[in-house]
Amino acid sequence: MLKHESLNPTGSIKDRTATGLLVDIDRLKPLTPGTVIVESTSGNLGLALARLVRLLDCNFIAVIDERTPRPTRDSLTASGVELYFVDEPDGQGGYLLSRLKAVRELCLANPDYRWTNQYHNAANPLIHEQTTGPEIARQGGAELDAVYVAVSTGGTLAGISAHLRSVAPNIRIVAVDSTGSLVTGGVGGQRLIAGLGASRASSFLTDGAYDVAARISPAAGVAACRAFFEDTGIALGGSSGSVLRGYLDDLDQGLFPRRALCLCPDDGSKYLGTLYDDGWLDTVHIAEAVHGAISRLRADGLRFRVAAP
Ligand SMILES: Cc1ncc(COP(=O)(O)O)c(C=O)c1O
Repeated sequence: MLKHESLNPTGSIKDRTATGLLVDIDRLKPLTPGTVIVESTSGNLGLALARLVRLLDCNFIAVIDERTPRPTRDSLTASGVELYFVDEPDGQGGYLLSRLKAVRELCLANPDYRWTNQYHNAANPLIHEQTTGPEIARQGGAELDAVYVAVSTGGTLAGISAHLRSVAPNIRIVAVDSTGSLVTGGVGGQRLIAGLGASRASSFLTDGAYDVAARISPAAGVAACRAFFEDTGIALGGSSGSVLRGYLDDLDQGLFPRRALCLCPDDGSKYLGTLYDDGWLDTVHIAEAVHGAISRLRADGLRFRVAAP
């Protein structure tokens, strides 16, 4: 079963996170018109914050990097967001540490700026404990015995886990991470999927938050997206494809959950010029690996199918 979060107002699960973060900083000190909010984002949280910040009559500086998809950058600019572009790699396979340094510098130079801080603010996991977790339990039903969740800040998974562990302690919880990510341990290295993995450990994922981490290579995640699209006509985002691959890895190892739920953070619309584009696969040198992985899926007889509810 896929739980698809692309129908949230700005197209991803981060609409929930943005709501939780803004309610929290407003509670600490009311957000008055003209307040400047700053956040480091790979894109989706930026889009979600942009919408709410506009409703609040506040301003928003989004600290982004070259991995932020072009359509996301264009949407942010069109929403009146100021983009602060970081181009210094952080030495851990990404830009996150450089983005966080830039946010700290901006806030130091401008003490009135407010930082929502998705990487440390407990309001991030809390909103998922209050909303996403209960929805998963309700929609998955009593039979639900495994969930697969992509991680970057780890907030989504930590919140879902806090709820599920309290109502259904036997559900297997799989953290889906990227190869080259430090979120669930491991060694920093090249990552290509926007929103999946990070250059540092999660401050939210404490012991017992998940049973196992599935570390998915960019090529394997893209191959799952492409195969799913070929079979269903539905374009998933790259972290969603990686989540599907995490589930398939369990099947390969002989684990057959009775009822599994894969949480899909966004859809493929922002990634048509990258994950779904053969030229881009060549540019990032994963074309052969992606096509090989799709051939192996097909050789194993795998076909995705949309079932009637
Ligand atoms: C597409 C996508 N997938 C997964 C995630 C991971 O969510 P979290 O930061 O809650 O771990 C994000 C977060 O930005 C995302 O944008």
